Formats: sequence, structure tokens, C-alpha cells
Amino acid sequence: MYAFDIDADSKPALYRDLLAAADALTAGEADGIANMANLSALLWQYLPALNWAGFYRAVAGELVLGPFQGKAACIRIPFGKGVCGTAAARGETQRVEDVHLFPGHIACDAASRSELVVPVWRNGAVAAVIDLDSPEPARFDPDDAAGIEALAALIGSRIG
Ligand code: SME
Repeated sequence: MYAFDIDADSKPALYRDLLAAADALTAGEADGIANMANLSALLWQYLPALNWAGFYRAVAGELVLGPFQGKAACIRIPFGKGVCGTAAARGETQRVEDVHLFPGHIACDAASRSELVVPVWRNGAVAAVIDLDSPEPARFDPDDAAGIEALAALIGSRIG
């Protein structure tokens, strides 16, 4: 069993502790699927107000569903399509306060209202994206984006 000491009193503290937990969980484990599975569970357990948390992997020029928590989701997303495909194609975080206003948003769960997608880089290319969905509008602020970007930087070499 893993037990993590996560301080949720402030976002910087929450993300500092999440990063340390993610490091401890994945350090020394070479299996990328196992690491993505555990990281999804970690995000799902400690970030409030999510209805989906997980990974899409870049495979042969498109995004393919990876380990996640939440409802069953669309399996393949072309680069450039939806929030995830836009993050992957541009190599830039997408923080969407109202998914209904995002052109081409792909609704995997009708409850989703806001979304944060962060690219994960490996060897100079986008290897995956971390996707977080929330049923609350404007759930994700710049601190959330910075926290997930720090996580993405940590795990780039550990997910595949
Ligand atoms: N909403 C995403 C698709 C993935 S699901 O949210 C899990 C998008 O527009 O790319």
C-alpha cells in the first residue's frame, strides 16, 4: 500500500506534494503503462472536482487513449482536433474555462465543463498529453496549469 502526505491547504503545497508523490511512485519503474496508471490514480485521488484524469499517447501521428480514471472515453484523437489534439499539435498547454466555447471540443463525458491538457515531452517531441476534465466551469487556474506542467516535465522519461 502507498500512503502519501498531501497538503491540500494551498495549491502550491498541493502540487509540491503531488510532484513528490509522483516522483516516488515512478522513480526506478521502467514500465510506462504502470507509471501512467498510477499517476492517473494519484491525480484522481488528490485533485478535487474532476470527472476525468488520464493520458492520451502519441502513436503514429495521432493520440491514443492511455491509462485514466473516469468514464470510458474516445479512443483515438487526430493531432489538431479537440482540446487534446490541439495541445499535442501545438505543444502547448490548453486551459479551457468553458469547453462549450472551444471550437471542436470532443465531448467524451457530457458532464465536462472545463478542461486542462498539458503536453508531455520526450526527446524533443510530444509523447503524450495529460488530460484533466471537470464538471465545474473554470475549474483550472494558472496554478493548476503550472502544477501539471511540472508533473509533465518530471515524467517525460518515465512513461514509455
Ligand atoms: N475533451 C477532450 C477529449 C478527451 S476526453 O475529455 C477524455 C478533447 O476535446 O480533446
